[in-house]
Amino acid sequence: MSTLSVRVWRGTESGRFQSFEVPRLASQTVLDVVTHIQRALDPTLSYRFACRVGMCGSCAMTVNGRARWTCRTHVSRVAADGRLEVAPLANLPVVKDLVTDMTEFFEKWARARGSFQGSSTRREDFARIDPGSPERRQADAGIECIGCAVCYSSCDVVAWNPAYLGPAALNRAWTLVNDARDAGNRARLAAVAGDAGCHACHTHMSCTERCPKQISPTAAIAGLKRAAALAALRGELGEAVKE
Ligand code: SF4
Ligand code: SF4
Ligand code: FES
Repeated sequence: MSTLSVRVWRGTESGRFQSFEVPRLASQTVLDVVTHIQRALDPTLSYRFACRVGMCGSCAMTVNGRARWTCRTHVSRVAADGRLEVAPLANLPVVKDLVTDMTEFFEKWARARGSFQGSSTRREDFARIDPGSPERRQADAGIECIGCAVCYSSCDVVAWNPAYLGPAALNRAWTLVNDARDAGNRARLAAVAGDAGCHACHTHMSCTERCPKQISPTAAIAGLKRAAALAALRGELGEAVKE
């Protein structure tokens, strides 16, 4: 039986790679390989997954230098020479082995005001949103984000500037800017217009190239730049900050 040579990150930030030989199987995913190591070779290996079908986003890791969902990455696509290197996601603190601490990632969603701010009460009728309206289409383009952090881990600006809100939080903010029911846009645009917000993006496109959901945070960030500039011209950002 042929085998794969797999190097897996062990420990925390100051850890090291450990090598394993894993049987090569047909239709094997990188998550299958990590699972084999944990179940058959070293039960102390820590990693994270839930759905195994590309719905939860919890299995994201760095595979041969690139952030990916491991459950949807076939070994044959990334390790033609039989070598795999599996590491935790970049730009996030390592808890242990392949598990990263997502706290900062989700705190940035909150800092970008990435939660819905409703203005209606339950006594009012449902809002009617035209599915073909330009705003609804803009929101649709980013709404399927599942918070996997592949884009965040792939962004050089996050690596250079740890305060940068990052592509996922900004993509979320843009879906809400386009939500006609939301009443929080002044404060949201003020939040994303700061030094660590949309204007820090260098349009490198790594987030867009690597998002497994084919979302374009780069386009969302470009939209935020336009909306924030318009709000600044109208003098709305200063007022929002004072609110
Ligand atoms: S935008 Fe894509 S890569 Fe980024 S967190 Fe959402 S689903 Fe993951
Ligand atoms: S386009 Fe912007 S957010 Fe996306 S990877 Fe590049 S710098 Fe980061
Ligand atoms: S385990 Fe859920 S996306 Fe991979």
